Amino acid sequence: MSEAAHETTTVAIIGAGPAGLTLANLLRTAGVDCVVVERQSRAYVEQRQRAGVLEHRAARMFEEWGLADRVLQDSRTDGVQEFRVDGRPRFLPIADLAGGKFGRILPQQFLVQRLITAFQEDGGDLRFGCQDVTLERPGSERPVVTYRDEDGRPHEIEADYLAGCDGFHGVSRRSVPEAEQTIYAYDHGIGWFTVLADVPPPRHPMFAVSAHGFAAHFPRGPRSSRFYLQCAPGEDLDAWDDRRIFDQLRLRIGDPDLPAGAVLEKAVVDMRSFVVDPMSYGRLFLVGDAAHIITPMGGKGMNLALADAEVLAKAVRSAVRDGDAQPLRDYSKTCLDRTWSYQEFSRWMTEMLHDSGDPATSGPFRHKIARARLDRLFTSPNAGGLFSDLMAGEA
Ligand code: APR
Repeated sequence: MSEAAHETTTVAIIGAGPAGLTLANLLRTAGVDCVVVERQSRAYVEQRQRAGVLEHRAARMFEEWGLADRVLQDSRTDGVQEFRVDGRPRFLPIADLAGGKFGRILPQQFLVQRLITAFQEDGGDLRFGCQDVTLERPGSERPVVTYRDEDGRPHEIEADYLAGCDGFHGVSRRSVPEAEQTIYAYDHGIGWFTVLADVPPPRHPMFAVSAHGFAAHFPRGPRSSRFYLQCAPGEDLDAWDDRRIFDQLRLRIGDPDLPAGAVLEKAVVDMRSFVVDPMSYGRLFLVGDAAHIITPMGGKGMNLALADAEVLAKAVRSAVRDGDAQPLRDYSKTCLDRTWSYQEFSRWMTEMLHDSGDPATSGPFRHKIARARLDRLFTSPNAGGLFSDLMAGEA
């Protein structure tokens, strides 16, 4: 067996999803040396379609770090959220209610492609196809990442800090002794059937509430849409052919004229939440999905990952440039405070929009409560304002 190539860096980043790539770009901008190791190929990560909404807070972050020109580009903005209640449209002017702040439509694959390009244009070190990635001595002063490259050659990177940005199924969180972590896991008992289709986008992002069950319609490009339909957890994908998908959407949205289109992708997502506390162990810092999973309701998964990345980038910059390690010691608490606030928002919205559907599912009492909660967004500027601030990521 050949001897491992030994290198050193300031931050070794494991994973090139939204979290790892954002962190890499911010560190590079801050003049901090880093290396990114990613298990998959570049083509794979660039094509993965998942999240699609960048909150106002995240857009401002890219502006402040001087990356907006290369990252935000043509991202569409929308200051209005539609709630289609029993087929009747209600429009909430969320940008006005949030004092001019608004989210942007930026499909994850575009964000990832742009972050890869920006990092590489600036001379960043990003390695795809890294196999058997392991974290050695993450609790020590000199942790090491090892992997095999595509030709099977072993490598080891000794770093001052490790950033575990390798998602929920990655190796980073599992490298921390179980006794050092408290896990909070919650199953919401709801499934979402998600569909990507060649259907013109809606005028505004839309949540539809009716006795037929929850549905949502979001733009994903000039000619494509992402739909969500409430379903049983673990629902059988084969039970949904294209005809059933569009029949159900027309019923739930209350629009018999909704055009059908080619279904490009479908999947069932079980709504669940997960948080690990603390988000650090020694010199290892967990970022994004490696530390927490949130339901897709409210579009916060990718945004939380980006927020963690910025907290860590600033903390490492303080430690390296100013010799101040306090922000690194505070990293976990800073990120967990936001994580729990977003978990609460996502859960609150999930209850409001599912319980106000079929009273036979939620029970008549919860159904009435959920309808009152939804109504209040339109009747109370304070309630509408808080909702809009939370959507913008600034509450
Ligand atoms: N070694 C190296 N890389 C790994 C390993 C490993 N052992 N395991 C996983 N990875 C890579 C994955 O291939 C992926 O590219 O880590 C990356 C993790 O990316 P994500 O799962 O997208 O997680 P994150 O960057 O935290 O983004 C989280 O973005 O997709 C949205 O809403 C979604 O909440 C999610 C958010």
